[in-house]
Amino acid sequence: EKGGFETFMLKEIHEQADAVAETIADRTVREDGVDLDEPGALDEELLKGVKRIVVVACGTSYHAGLIGRYTIEEWARVPVEVEVASEYRYRNPVLGQGDLVIGITQSGETADTLAAMRLARERGATVLAVTNVMGSQATRDADGVLFTRAGLEIGVAATKTFLCQVAVMYLLALRLAELQGTMDAPRRRELIADLKRIPHAIAELLEGEEERIQPVAERFGPSSFFLYIGRHIGLPVALEGALKLKEISYIATDAYAAGEMKHGPIALLDEATPVVAVATDSPVLDKVVSNMQEVRARGAHVIAVATEGNTEIGEHAEVVLRVPKLDWMLQPILAVIPLQLLAYAIARTRGLNVDQPRNLAKTVTVE
Ligand code: M6R
Repeated sequence: EKGGFETFMLKEIHEQADAVAETIADRTVREDGVDLDEPGALDEELLKGVKRIVVVACGTSYHAGLIGRYTIEEWARVPVEVEVASEYRYRNPVLGQGDLVIGITQSGETADTLAAMRLARERGATVLAVTNVMGSQATRDADGVLFTRAGLEIGVAATKTFLCQVAVMYLLALRLAELQGTMDAPRRRELIADLKRIPHAIAELLEGEEERIQPVAERFGPSSFFLYIGRHIGLPVALEGALKLKEISYIATDAYAAGEMKHGPIALLDEATPVVAVATDSPVLDKVVSNMQEVRARGAHVIAVATEGNTEIGEHAEVVLRVPKLDWMLQPILAVIPLQLLAYAIARTRGLNVDQPRNLAKTVTVE
């Protein structure tokens, strides 16, 4: 049942190309636009008029929401707030008609996310569920559903479901941009062509990646603390990489907006600290590079995730994990993969059960 892989998590990491292909396939048939007008989806008139979006989610799904924020705001120019569901539900949020609330939940059964979605509905907002499970409670508590099509995920650590959630957020952002008239057809065509390249890029990246990462895991695995940094669209990737490592290896991690380092976390750095920097090509890359220099000036070690072909990054990091080049806004869906594998390799080196980490459940049905 593990299809020749040693764990479900590793199998699921390797299923990511197919899972994303499945999630985008029939939604990207048109060359200059995304189609989301499918059974169970929201009325498109509604998407056309939406003025404000709030995403509620927990854990890894929250990170997918953060990526959704950057893309929706950049492409569709609709303001987006993203909030951890357990906070949102107790916040007496300002919400009402005309607002769209998106609950992202792989299982469709996470108690806090469901409660936040119900609250939003009571206040008159429209609720969209992004979930991987047909017939789950989230599908019943929403006005519309967009399914990720990752297939069953057994490992407690979310991997392929995360990539599919990110893919759905890209699709939704592009559809919103088209409906709201904020992106011209040539640009949409470019982005859709790049979206369709993702499955192949994932397969290419996975080829030989475990062998490349193993020595990195052996070198840094004994560390007791890892700091993850990123900016803009790289920040959710840093947050997700840090969550993966802490949940399966039990190593303390922190993830920070790189620009915040000077405001506290830099005090944690010493010669023993590995710092994972998400440094894929983007308009803020030079800023990330200066943060990497600050890290190295304290004697700490930089492990960078960078875009293939960027030779400059090698001068500022001890280890560079490369991902294929795509439009810079699409890089997160690839950049997270080496971080999944790094967490995986470190946990395995420590002899841990990655499929069922201690204290964690796959589905959190209590608050
Ligand atoms: O089923 P959900 O997407 O609502 O689950 C949310 C979180 O519990 C989940 O993402 C959790 O953080 C994962 N174990 C992370 O790998």
